[in-house]
Amino acid sequence: MRDFNENNATEGVLKSFESIQNERIKQLMGSIVKHMHEVVKETEPTFEEWLKAIEFLTKTGQKCDDRRQEFILFSDVMGVSMLIDTINNRKHHNETESTVLGPFHAPAPEIELGDNIANNVKGEKCIVKGRVKDVKGNNLPDVSVDVWQSGPDGLYDVQKENNVVDLRGRMKTDENGNYFFKTVKPQFYPVPTDGPVGEILNFLGRHPFRPAHIHFMVKAKGFVDLTTHVFIDGDPYLDSDTVFAVKESLIRTLCESKDPDDGSPCKELTFNIILEEEN
Ligand SMILES: [Fe+2]
Repeated sequence: MRDFNENNATEGVLKSFESIQNERIKQLMGSIVKHMHEVVKETEPTFEEWLKAIEFLTKTGQKCDDRRQEFILFSDVMGVSMLIDTINNRKHHNETESTVLGPFHAPAPEIELGDNIANNVKGEKCIVKGRVKDVKGNNLPDVSVDVWQSGPDGLYDVQKENNVVDLRGRMKTDENGNYFFKTVKPQFYPVPTDGPVGEILNFLGRHPFRPAHIHFMVKAKGFVDLTTHVFIDGDPYLDSDTVFAVKESLIRTLCESKDPDDGSPCKELTFNIILEEEN
């Protein structure tokens, strides 16, 4: 094309996509370009502002490695991850709602029901239990329940240099659909703020905190995979989660209880899960 200008810019770039064979890529790229051009035309950035944006994306990429995913974090704090999650997990029945995967999922060791997943941290002991059912209320045995959480220091194991796997485990529900594990009480924590996303949050005057939660990834043959969290009632950040992941239906109360093994006092959290059958 010649004489590229403000009026024909978008049309010109879209025309250059005409030979794309893959219709989905054509649709995605077309939409991205249309919206990017709209933003530029609406806000008319200076060269300095444009370079700042390029610099931010560059630094975000440079912050990523096999343990740190700054782009997921950026997507999370901008609400994009939750929007994609919501669109891809529209609720059809009474199944448990999903929420973001987050950047800290990693392969977990297999554990037996009742095992303690907190091996290298000190914290308030907590029992987590529940039953997995289908939407009709039938118990689901042999379901894979993968859990992970941060420690009382607010860090996940993958954020630490010592390479010790902790506070994560994968178990199977028993013949009645029950799962049960021991851990430490989760508490609120900040997302990593030592990178460009931290700078953006600071610049926007936003706090980096996420309310206390435990992550769940639940899989059963013939059912839709569920990625979700359970949140703790009363947490100060339930209404301002920096990644917008809180759903009312996922909040549970932490009760006082006793460890069934030694009778010592501990906290207890019950989180029953309902899976939706695959079509
Ligand atoms: Fe988390």
